[in-house]
Amino acid sequence: MKLDEIMMNEEKKEVIILLGATGGVGKLLAEELKKNGYIVVGNGRKEDVLIKMKNEGKIDDYVVGDLTKDEDRKKIVGKIKEYVNKGYKVTVFYNIGILYDYRGDISKYNIEEIRKAWETNVESIIATDIELLRNNLILDTIYMVSISAYYVEKVDPIYEITKAALDRYVARLKYDDEVNNRKRRLIALSPDTIKTGEEGMGSKLKEYPKIPGEIFVKKVVEIINGKYKEYSGFIFEIGEDNRIRLYGMNPSKITNAFEYLEKEFIEEIGEAVY
Ligand SMILES: NC(=O)c1ccc[n+]([C@@H]2O[C@H](COP(=O)([O-])OP(=O)(O)OC[C@H]3O[C@@H](n4cnc5c(N)ncnc54)[C@H](OP(=O)(O)O)[C@@H]3O)[C@@H](O)[C@H]2O)c1
Repeated sequence: MKLDEIMMNEEKKEVIILLGATGGVGKLLAEELKKNGYIVVGNGRKEDVLIKMKNEGKIDDYVVGDLTKDEDRKKIVGKIKEYVNKGYKVTVFYNIGILYDYRGDISKYNIEEIRKAWETNVESIIATDIELLRNNLILDTIYMVSISAYYVEKVDPIYEITKAALDRYVARLKYDDEVNNRKRRLIALSPDTIKTGEEGMGSKLKEYPKIPGEIFVKKVVEIINGKYKEYSGFIFEIGEDNRIRLYGMNPSKITNAFEYLEKEFIEEIGEAVY
């Protein structure tokens, strides 16, 4: 479908560029966004999955590409530019990431694996943001972090470290935006484990309680729709009682980081599953 046709078919002129659309969370999120009238442009390295999603009506358009590669990032930013130039309000949603299996000790990871995780979970995202800014694309942006950014848990420590860095980056970018008077919304989402069937990172963490994927994506779309505008960071946490609680936060005035202990309770959103 051509961009003009997509435009004619949709009354809502809001586009979500979903980077990491092809995995467990991405697929569910794409569907929920579509239900809410967004035009969804998917990305991932797996072209076959993107084609299938488009044929099933889960996304409207796609751009295949590896966010860790310079030329692919340029291609993706080119696609984003097309939509902006056509007059759409565009939001970028970084949903990409990798998680290794937990090995009990940091010394059990090799340097190549560590590099790959940094490249995917942190550098590729910062590099894409830089490419966008250099193209004068000041867009609302959502970052999929993880509650692992705040906890020491029995998950891959490299995941924990990279997600903590991503979280800190978003707080810093918010500061830069203020200094440079860039008016846009930045959101960091930090969920506990999510259940998305056989797919997704949650399926690696079998013994963990999980947030049902459907509940998670519904809440995320409400946040995108503008609910809870007073917060830029969100924690989705499963309590000892198995209840899922949503918390809001903003970067601390003292450390300019999202501080777990400064989170404010918003509401309960459901019960965890296994
Ligand atoms: N599931 C959970 O329990 C959970 C909890 C907290 C946070 N998160 C975060 O939520 C996000 C999605 O998780 P998920 O469970 O859906 O994981 P997933 O099923 O493994 O999906 C990962 C996504 O990232 C994409 N991706 C990976 N490397 C890429 C690259 N170099 N270039 C472009 N795309 C790349 C994958 O697409 P291709 O393979 O097609 O490239 C896929 O769409 C991640 O950031 C994860 O850290 C997940």
